[in-house]
Amino acid sequence: MAVAATGVEERLLIGGEWVEAASGGRFDVTDPATGEPVGSVPDAGESDVKAAIGAAAGALDEWKALPALQRARILRKAADLIRERRDTIALVMTSEQGKPLAEAAGEVDYAASFLEWFGGEAERVYGQIVPPMNPTSRVLVLRQPVGVTAAITPWNFPAAMMTRKLGPAMAAGCTSVVKPASATPLTAALILRAIEDAGTPPGVVNLITSRSSGMVAQQLFSDARVRKISFTGSTEVGKELIRASADQVKRLSLELGGHAPYVIFDDADLDEAVDGLIASKFRNAGQTCVCANRTYVQAGVYDAVVAKLAEKVTKMVVGHGTEPGVTIGPLIDDRAVDKADEHVKDAIAQGARLVVGGERIEGSGSFYAPTVLEGVTPQMLISTEETFGPVAGITRFETEEEVIRVANESIYGLAAYFHTRDYARLLRVAEKLEYGIIGANTGIISAANAPFGGVKESGYGREGGSVGIDEYLDVKYIQVGGVGL
Ligand code: SIN
Repeated sequence: MAVAATGVEERLLIGGEWVEAASGGRFDVTDPATGEPVGSVPDAGESDVKAAIGAAAGALDEWKALPALQRARILRKAADLIRERRDTIALVMTSEQGKPLAEAAGEVDYAASFLEWFGGEAERVYGQIVPPMNPTSRVLVLRQPVGVTAAITPWNFPAAMMTRKLGPAMAAGCTSVVKPASATPLTAALILRAIEDAGTPPGVVNLITSRSSGMVAQQLFSDARVRKISFTGSTEVGKELIRASADQVKRLSLELGGHAPYVIFDDADLDEAVDGLIASKFRNAGQTCVCANRTYVQAGVYDAVVAKLAEKVTKMVVGHGTEPGVTIGPLIDDRAVDKADEHVKDAIAQGARLVVGGERIEGSGSFYAPTVLEGVTPQMLISTEETFGPVAGITRFETEEEVIRVANESIYGLAAYFHTRDYARLLRVAEKLEYGIIGANTGIISAANAPFGGVKESGYGREGGSVGIDEYLDVKYIQVGGVGL
């Protein structure tokens, strides 16, 4: 089925209406596996962004006044609709983003899980009654929606990163303007369509597609009606947004870059460890913020791990994500391929040994061969910069103390992983790693019920888990005097 035949709305969603940009301008969406256009969307300008903010502001009072149970029902219904439409959404996602169809379908379920989880949380936004300091007063603590919010979402998980922001926003009683990455706006349109079809009132969620991310951000940051912005993307852009937030002291949540260490101790279950490493490193062709970027293997199992990894990586099938059996799709564009290639060439030039892969795949589309390098050292680019590609670089280590030190030597602090069968070590190492997320004996850490987020230059704020909704709530207390006893 072609993307056009899925009925995806290739328009903006403003105040419940699917509309063109005021300028009439549009831009193409391309398939990274072929370089061919698969659709097009409006190229929104300033007036469109203002209209979307206006629609969100107009819908706020009614939405926040709706009983939490009703907001919860809408969120659960939206989750059901997204799951019912899994195949269509997955096909569109693969067509514009590239990940294999099975991974895309998995992401659709992951996206639905945020709406379902926060449907539950909507009903648990409790306040407090604080014991009085003196008998004539009472303190009541309320948690109230922050108001109009904006979500700026990335291309690597075009469905799930949106619902991870919209779920808590809607549950809390906030309204939103969503700006998806310009590479993946069609998946966003399908997700918003499902949210709309679930009975969400007009204006509660609004969609802006635009090639001018800077202009959209400028509009969002300069409009006092927008009270909070959530962004997933690079640390570089995140820092610009922090600066932009200063003028109006705008609330921010930032899920930024990562550079995850993946540690395999001598006492690990090696098959489980290698499977975990593959799941972490090669999911979405290595284009995740939480994927392993540095792999540290203890000396006693080093050769065995390199051999097991090489055997599995050699069997990976690269191709168009809609073809049966494909396990590695394209990277998002040719610049991403250049970066992966630069990291591999730099590592080899500095003495790493190429075990598998190590080359761009020529032809149409942005493909890079799944790659394993061993003998990686801290001076190499791959040891400090996010590769965002299917390249695993392995480093040998001797002691627990040494690996904790090198694992923590990073400006990033999003995710870290390790494998051990020693449960005292498990707790000790987990406590010492300076990261927001730890995968212990697993390479998959993503879940709607867990508080996803980083420390250091990986950002601040948490998405998911019971604390995820706090990002969309303001705390207010009421000091009541003159209470006679
Ligand atoms: C990301 O890496 O950008 C998100 C990954 C996830 O939620 O699993």
